[in-house]
Amino acid sequence: MTTPLIEARKAGRILRGEITTTLVTDISLSVMPGEFVSITGPSGSGKSSLLYLLGLLDIPTEGEVLVGGEATRALDENHRADLRLAMLGFVFQFHFLLPEFSALDNVLLPMRALGRMKDAQMRNRATDLLTTLGLADHLWKRPDQLSGGQRQRVAIARALANQPSVILADEPTGNLDTVASAQVVSILRRIVDEEKKAVVIVTHDPGLAAKADRQIQIIDGRIASDGLSANQPATVAS
Ligand SMILES: Nc1ncnc2c1ncn2[C@@H]1O[C@H](COP(=O)(O)OP(=O)(O)OP(=O)(O)O)[C@@H](O)[C@H]1O
Ligand SMILES: [Mg+2]
Repeated sequence: MTTPLIEARKAGRILRGEITTTLVTDISLSVMPGEFVSITGPSGSGKSSLLYLLGLLDIPTEGEVLVGGEATRALDENHRADLRLAMLGFVFQFHFLLPEFSALDNVLLPMRALGRMKDAQMRNRATDLLTTLGLADHLWKRPDQLSGGQRQRVAIARALANQPSVILADEPTGNLDTVASAQVVSILRRIVDEEKKAVVIVTHDPGLAAKADRQIQIIDGRIASDGLSANQPATVAS
């Protein structure tokens, strides 16, 4: 049996203070190689919280999250960071590129952090990735010299830098016009189809959700539905 790239077992994050806040709870799901999964749901329903748990950016307070079959809840932060760097790539609504660095240097950063390649190899890979994403003429530009869509493509190149098994994206097209959004979606689609990676994407955009093979809907911090797109209508709220 194939090991899921990411698996949540009754995972949740509940903040217990004077007031108890349930961000997400009772989340059980597996993400397999070659899956393109969308997460939809109303604002405040827990989509980002879920993505942070799946991406080891947050620690579950209940249940467990496994990455590549490895249980992560009890790992120390260094170990979690290593798993993130090697297995997961992130794309957010706002690109979070370093403003003073060129596109190329932004893509080099995660490779340098992982430290598995020689400098020349890293540069070749970064150049290839940016070229594939249509940015061959923009390698040396800083983020403020690029359009929103170009910046988001640099962010995708950065997310792909270490050849992660899973790309986790939180509203990656939320800030883009229709043409740039379509481009980002087709890039993500290609990553799934050609490289058998998995993509998990949080989106408010019904058109984008419909492009996924599997749609998970979150309501009030819980999975309300989880199914193949062909078998159910696009259930996208607000
Ligand atoms: N650090 C925190 N402390 C307290 N409450 C939080 C915290 N982070 C998120 N929340 C709350 O948890 C709930 C889920 O938030 P989350 O950001 O996951 O929602 P979302 O579905 O991503 O919403 P949106 O579509 O607006 O981005 C919200 O009610 C939010 O206010
Ligand atoms: Mg969110």
